[in-house]
Amino acid sequence: MQQLEKAAIDDKSYSLEDWRKGYESQYQELEYLIEDVEGEIPLDLSGTLYRNGPGLLEVHGTPLRHPFDGDGMICAFTFENGSCFFRNRFVKTKEYLEEQKAGKMLYRGVFGSQKPGGWLANLFDIRVKNIANTNVIHWGNKLLALWEAAFPYTLNPENLDTIGLDNLDGILQQGEVFSAHPRIDPHSQFNDDKPSLINFGIKPGPSSTINIYEFDELGKIIQKYSHETRGFCFIHDFVITPNYCIFFQNPTTYNPLPFVFGLRGAGECLDFDGTKPTKIILIPRNAPHDKVVTLETEAGFIFHHSNAFEINNNEIVVDSICYAELSQIDPNNSYKEVDFDKLAPGQLWRFKLNLSTKTVTKELINNRCVEFPYINSENVGGDYRYIFIGATDHPTKNAPLQGLLKIDLVTKEEQLYSFAPKGFTGESVFISKNNPQSEDDGWILSLIYDSSQNRSNLVIFDGKDISTPIATLYLKQHIPYGLHGSWKGN
Ligand SMILES: [Fe+2]
Repeated sequence: MQQLEKAAIDDKSYSLEDWRKGYESQYQELEYLIEDVEGEIPLDLSGTLYRNGPGLLEVHGTPLRHPFDGDGMICAFTFENGSCFFRNRFVKTKEYLEEQKAGKMLYRGVFGSQKPGGWLANLFDIRVKNIANTNVIHWGNKLLALWEAAFPYTLNPENLDTIGLDNLDGILQQGEVFSAHPRIDPHSQFNDDKPSLINFGIKPGPSSTINIYEFDELGKIIQKYSHETRGFCFIHDFVITPNYCIFFQNPTTYNPLPFVFGLRGAGECLDFDGTKPTKIILIPRNAPHDKVVTLETEAGFIFHHSNAFEINNNEIVVDSICYAELSQIDPNNSYKEVDFDKLAPGQLWRFKLNLSTKTVTKELINNRCVEFPYINSENVGGDYRYIFIGATDHPTKNAPLQGLLKIDLVTKEEQLYSFAPKGFTGESVFISKNNPQSEDDGWILSLIYDSSQNRSNLVIFDGKDISTPIATLYLKQHIPYGLHGSWKGN
């Protein structure tokens, strides 16, 4: 038995001590030309990679209970003529500035971070702190920092200065929110075959409202519509096809009383209910949007989808990262002490939705634990072949993400580049080359944390072959594990 346990320990591709160093705060706001480069930065890689994520893991000495409560910090990597300029800035939200001025934590975090002083100090304080930390996207001449439970913040795309909270020219009404997972339809039938940005916002309750917004390439609204669904909604991401917006309503229950009474964070009051099905809601993008189709599949939990496409009028494919349940952080332990072996693994599944028979079938595409899928932007909402995704080093065990995995959905071939044992990954961004010869003809940018040097590196791969990086750009400092980002070409 002892030998077995030892074998299991030796099997790990990482140490928890190394992993948790990537959750140290980064206080500095820097800007510099990255001079420490191994390999060659492609000359025709021209534009800016924007990334968002929690920059502070404590607020003036009070540690956060969950990294998702950390103030948003934007990183910009600007490429031009084979060089890269780095800049990072915090999103100067109203709440961030108030806490800076006060020198102490003034707000609770949605994911359980509490003000010091126990439950009495948090009793009846149901204010929500907009931390603007989940995604960043350039659209319609605006750079938007996104967090799913509030309005976006607009930033100056050149120097990352915070401009302010943005209701998108009056489109977002009081009480509405704008999710952190917009999708870009590369050829929208509602915008003369030009790109459009589609996003949603959830107003949760015993009956929840899904608001959907479609914008043209200049950021002007094309259409706005909504659908009400029974039950509490926790929906983080969605997928689009030319004709539908598709939402997976995870089976959850919500009891806000522990939050109201100062005992738990709002997000900690969410419970997974494995006795209920997952609802799949297909909302037509064509007006009047009322022919909504709702299907059911077995219980599961989804944060992120890879893509969806229509096979014909009656069949739709959706690829998603599914968990058997929602893993909550042990309330008696720091998230830094997490036991990955006890968490439900996230795996890539393919759902086939039959709109005629109202049935759903699903198939496991890959056994490995994966998260943060990214695909060629030209294939969003259409049939596609390649997924680039964060992956564990171990082929089946749950662990922190340490690799970049390329999956060929046609041949089922896989290619993994692992940064184990000292490197840790997250989302990688795929950028198509000019005049690409194939769907994978592009670059992949991966921001990794190197625990051996306590700094982060931006690694560039060629999408056709990720066996060796093209270039590694060594930063002077570390960037705490981030969430999402996007590319803005020149
Ligand atoms: Fe996300």
